[in-house]
Amino acid sequence: MKLYIDSANLDEIRDLAWLVDGVTTNPSLVAREKVPFEETIARICELVDGPVSAEVMSLVADDMVREGRALARIHPNVVIKVPMTEEGMKAVQALSADKVRTNVTLVFSANQALVAAKCGASFVSPFVGRVDDVGGGGMDMVSDILDVLQNYVFPTEVIVASVRHPRHVFEAAALGAEIATVPHAILKQLFRHPLTDAGIERFLKDWKAAKPPASA
Ligand code: G3P
Repeated sequence: MKLYIDSANLDEIRDLAWLVDGVTTNPSLVAREKVPFEETIARICELVDGPVSAEVMSLVADDMVREGRALARIHPNVVIKVPMTEEGMKAVQALSADKVRTNVTLVFSANQALVAAKCGASFVSPFVGRVDDVGGGGMDMVSDILDVLQNYVFPTEVIVASVRHPRHVFEAAALGAEIATVPHAILKQLFRHPLTDAGIERFLKDWKAAKPPASA
């Protein structure tokens, strides 16, 4: 399973660049950084050698394609994030015909993922946290998407997005999702367990108490 970091913050990305397989950004994350969009994407591409999703802001297919082509010129690792709309899917078809990789975002159903895959999407991003927020089953949606896509030979990979806690990462992996994109703070939590901390503390205490001779 691949882990991406869901962030546009260069410090966060630099901190975990050694671990992650890619980066996803969205307009809200980029706006928070107060750095020009293209510059942010270029700098992220210098930090992580893997797919870096950059989202188009237009809502009309031709404009999305123009915007997507310009973003794709920043670096070969740039993947164009396109919202799951009818216009978006026209743009995905056109970009994929140009061999520009796309990540279809704001996916909330298996049918949306199916259409995106048929249009040539390289990635689809179901937003699990936002489904859970409104009382739905985010992971049930991911399970449905994986079931549908695995029936066929789409090259589309599923990025579990809108991850809110470590349990989401475990559930994504248990379902066999190819990728989870995870905020920095939650990636940090993946290393931790209170029994690991307690175990280290006890080993150190026992070692210091016994003072065993150093090996030759
Ligand atoms: O990058 C897309 C997605 O991960 C957004 O997450 O927490 O704003 O629903 P969230």
